[in-house]
Amino acid sequence: MKEVSASILSKKNIFKLIDDLNKSNTDYIHLDIMDNKFVPNKFLTVGETLKVLDKITKKIDAHLMVENPELYIKKMALYNVSYITVHFEIKDYKKYIDMIKNYGFKAGISIKPKTPVEAIYDLLNDISVVLIMSVEPGLSGQEFIPSTKEKIDKLRSEIKRRNLNVKISVDGGINNQVLDYVKNADILVSCSYVLEDYNNIDILKNA
Ligand code: DX5
Ligand code: ZN
Repeated sequence: MKEVSASILSKKNIFKLIDDLNKSNTDYIHLDIMDNKFVPNKFLTVGETLKVLDKITKKIDAHLMVENPELYIKKMALYNVSYITVHFEIKDYKKYIDMIKNYGFKAGISIKPKTPVEAIYDLLNDISVVLIMSVEPGLSGQEFIPSTKEKIDKLRSEIKRRNLNVKISVDGGINNQVLDYVKNADILVSCSYVLEDYNNIDILKNA
């Protein structure tokens, strides 16, 4: 059984989408935040992000694809956010992991496809989730990168070996065709596949 985190990185009416997902079987709503610097794309403004946070009744899984996450972490302090994840590829990621934990959230670290998974092994004692990107961050609707499987499997072995309580989440291009690749993950993040048909949430959960 997997947990599902439904991403709302879509051009559909976002508030209608949130309404639907609040009523669905998804475990989390995955909130992608982009600054047009760390990734070449923008999604919601800070003001829109807060309105969206207000509407969500599911547990929230925030993915900060930004160079400077400080403002977002502070703004989220008032909301029911479970995980806040920052990227390993930004400066001062360690400082932000501490900040996230000081605000009482569970902290996550995310790695882009070209970052080796071993790079974050030193952080495994300090975080609750590793978000492995299976596409280049910034856009939904891209194709799953098959070599992600090796990263997930290596990380699973390392977590087992050290007997840690860290979840593995995978983000990008997830659908029913790639389930063999993500067997060792705990959380599957999906936008396109889940929004195409909310029944797909159950297919992912039972993967
Ligand atoms: C990509 C985002 C993902 C994205 C996934 O940068 O982090 O969460 O919304 O979209 P799909 O499932 O369509 O690849
Ligand atoms: Zn994401």
